[in-house]
Amino acid sequence: MATKRVTVTDPASETSTELPVLEGSLGTPVIDIQKLTKELGYFSYDPGFVSTASCQSAITYIDGEQGILLYRGYPIEQLAQQSTFLEVAHLLIFGELPKPAELSAFAAEIKREAMIHETLRKFFDGFQYDAHPMAMMVGVVGSLSAFYHSELDMTDPEHRRISAIRLLAKMPTIATACYRHSVGLPFVYPRGDLGYCENFLNMMFSLPSLQYSGDTQWYLDPLASEALSLLFILHADHEQNASTSTVRLASSTGANPYACISAGIAALWGPAHGGANEAVLGMLNEIGHPDRIPEYIRRAKDKNDPFRLMGFGHRIYKNYDPRAMIIRKACHAVLERFSQSDPLFDLAMALEEMALNDDYFIEKRLYPNVDFYSGIIYKALNIPVNMFTVMFALARTAGWVAHWLELKSDPKQKIGRPRQLYVGAPRRDYVSQDRR
Ligand code: SDX
Repeated sequence: MATKRVTVTDPASETSTELPVLEGSLGTPVIDIQKLTKELGYFSYDPGFVSTASCQSAITYIDGEQGILLYRGYPIEQLAQQSTFLEVAHLLIFGELPKPAELSAFAAEIKREAMIHETLRKFFDGFQYDAHPMAMMVGVVGSLSAFYHSELDMTDPEHRRISAIRLLAKMPTIATACYRHSVGLPFVYPRGDLGYCENFLNMMFSLPSLQYSGDTQWYLDPLASEALSLLFILHADHEQNASTSTVRLASSTGANPYACISAGIAALWGPAHGGANEAVLGMLNEIGHPDRIPEYIRRAKDKNDPFRLMGFGHRIYKNYDPRAMIIRKACHAVLERFSQSDPLFDLAMALEEMALNDDYFIEKRLYPNVDFYSGIIYKALNIPVNMFTVMFALARTAGWVAHWLELKSDPKQKIGRPRQLYVGAPRRDYVSQDRR
């Protein structure tokens, strides 16, 4: 709702225009510049969209200064303590926490849709065993649209709804299939008697030899699925981050939801974004010992060294990432139960301590983010490092799908198509001697 206006004047023509200021329900107001080009003949310029709001959204709110993260208004700390991942996924996608009957219907439909087509399983045979699981995820998720031709009319609310359910339901099955393919193990089907996170762990780790040997099936320990549910909740959504913005941009062209989520998975893979959790473990293994931390902190501060402290810094949080705080606490409980002590966790704590007391990190307000500790818990749950970003993609599917649905149901939405500042060659004629 525009109450205030900002006047912008072009010094060359001394022409002015008044731009409306729009206020949201929380957070920073925006200047609506949609008529800037038409009235003043300028584009706005904001590489990396540091100061740009791309849309209106009611899903997630972040206050980087205060370290606040709300999913549909609920503080992440409360959801982390009191909800399961499926309840939070329902909240993000449909706008409200489910009542008991709604939750059981939602969970039942997720279970019904958890299987993947038997021919889709054959796609994995095309990948070498050492293919990165994220490469498989991008390909296989994008291919899901080939199996639902008759339900891709995105003007049909039921087609949109069932596509959202299918994506959420099939991600654990596809993610675990990537892992099982990479270690040469037979795929495990989802089971109707297990919950969402329990199913994931069972599809990842169950072995016929274990089931009938009386060995402890550790992965069925409730603490393992509770730890996973917590990590999935913390990774479920995060406003207009790079991968969610990619999903929205792809969705704005009318591309099918499976292709849009595949685009989001591709964007998440980068080490500056969701690939950071895998990079954190690589960095900790490379540092190896607390005595080497000062050298790496020096490198992170050296402008001529491309090395950055992975898991540190955030575009928005200029204070602690609230998710990192929650994961850091959970690490202790998981390590105690599943892996006693992990030298990498101790190293991570020492690195955090040194960085947080270093002037460079203090001045630039660089704190641990969600990726700094998540890998420690995944590792304690025997999840291989190259699967860490797959875990992030699995959880973020709830947010991606919620934003996809929000955009598709916005009557004002149109195709995203940014402009540019052209700095290339001026017009020139093609003359044959130029090619000598
Ligand atoms: C996620 O957007 C989201 O919400 C993402 C996410 C989500 O849930 O979707 O929260 C998930 O992606 C978390 C971030 C994971 N990435 C990493 O941990 C990689 C390491 N972090 C950095 O690459 C960086 O901090 C970013 C990418 C996260 C943020 O980069 P920005 O906002 O573009 O900040 P910047 O690069 O402009 O840095 C500002 C200054 C620079 O120094 P100056 O040029 O001002 O001298 O801080 C420095 C940077 O060099 N800096 C770092 C640093 N991060 C920023 N220096 C050393 N180590 C770092 N990690």
